[in-house]
Amino acid sequence: MALHGGREPKHPGGEEVQVNPLFADPAMDAVPKHRLGDGSIDPRTAYQVVHDELMLDGNARTNLATFVTTWMEDDARRLMAECSDKNMIDKDEYPQTAELERRCVNILGSLWRSPARGDAVGCSTTGSSEACMLGGLALKRRWERRDGGSRGRPNLVMGINVQVCWEKFCNYFEVEARCVPMEGDRFQLSAEEAVARCDENTIGVVAILGSTFDGSYEPVAEIAAALDDLEKRTGLDVPIHVDGASGAMIAPFLDPELVWDFRLPRVASINTSGHKYGLVYPGVGWAVWRDAGALPDELVFRVNYLGGEMPTFALNFSRPGAQVALQYYNFLRLGFDGYRRVQQECRDVATRLAGSIVKLDAFDVLTRGDELPVVAFKVRDGIESFSVFDASTKLREHGWVVPAYTFPANREDLAVLRVVVRNGFSHDLADMFVGDLKSALPALERQHEPVHGASATSFHH
Ligand SMILES: Cc1ncc(COP(=O)(O)O)c(C=O)c1O
Repeated sequence: MALHGGREPKHPGGEEVQVNPLFADPAMDAVPKHRLGDGSIDPRTAYQVVHDELMLDGNARTNLATFVTTWMEDDARRLMAECSDKNMIDKDEYPQTAELERRCVNILGSLWRSPARGDAVGCSTTGSSEACMLGGLALKRRWERRDGGSRGRPNLVMGINVQVCWEKFCNYFEVEARCVPMEGDRFQLSAEEAVARCDENTIGVVAILGSTFDGSYEPVAEIAAALDDLEKRTGLDVPIHVDGASGAMIAPFLDPELVWDFRLPRVASINTSGHKYGLVYPGVGWAVWRDAGALPDELVFRVNYLGGEMPTFALNFSRPGAQVALQYYNFLRLGFDGYRRVQQECRDVATRLAGSIVKLDAFDVLTRGDELPVVAFKVRDGIESFSVFDASTKLREHGWVVPAYTFPANREDLAVLRVVVRNGFSHDLADMFVGDLKSALPALERQHEPVHGASATSFHH
């Protein structure tokens, strides 16, 4: 089954890719698209064909939808090329890559105030999705082991605003997803709503730092305090997993006074995406547990067929080692102050951008970029001529990819645009973006009614 998101290929009719005569031998002017060719072609031709096909992908720098790193400096790219043959799982063959992974886990553990100083329990993953699955599996196994009590269907409590990986976790591992809907101006999980849904079959509560929908931080400390109180009243001991896919690499640098991490005894595990504000190219995430007690030992496999006895906790077996080396490179290269300056610049750009958007007198901002550097904004009440979907389409004419989407239950009536400010999206680019949005307004305001419906662009993670 080919999973291509229901999109038709660009040229549905053609079964072959045409090869420019400059590159091919005269006998071969096309190569099949959907089956192997009969013979080989030379590498230069193959390179050119693939390279040309990929030209149609968007420009990463003007893609304001993604949280994922789209630029790294030359030295990092060199390191990536040097490490491209390393398989992360072969820890016996690549012990130094494994050592860099261990150092990264300790660095993150200390950033997140792990009590296991210098011996943090954690691992790298392909991204936050895998890290969340591992965090969820540890919660589920701990619940199963708990005092042999009643065994109904396990459930996980979270806001409806969780990223799709948590829905996947619940679906794949047969856990009931107890999602708290949005209500009025509350777009995230509250302590009160979380506690109200906990019972003896709750494996944990997921708190997000910050929400994929609007970039806001969930009140982790308040949720922890409410769960402490629940334990006092009922004896139920419900742990928290903090999904810090983005925020766990922002808050330690920009919000040191915010208590959301292992300083809260109820926080059992934390994940982040190395490839988001960890500033590494895609495929690396991290999961760190409070201590060995938070990660049941029976989930850790020890294999000896690679030589040595290697512990692994992962959904995949083989995966690239280069991103782990790049994560360590960034930690080494930037240090605490380097990260702080990069993240502060993103926050400064985002908050200024939010102010400029408000000044256009056509939009209201839901978030101002002062938690995650993310600005979510909606068309101002009373403006009937265009929708966020129309604005998103107009921005595409200028090369900007800005997702427009509706919020989930119970705020499906609310549709927003969202800009994610990443390293490299400068004040200058932000000004150009606002300029293009401003210049699109007269045409949008001349419309009699919105042109694009809710399906115009899909939600981006
Ligand atoms: C809060 C949150 N959790 C999990 C994920 C999944 O992360 P990844 O893309 O690294 O698998 C995302 C992605 O945007 C996210 O925002």
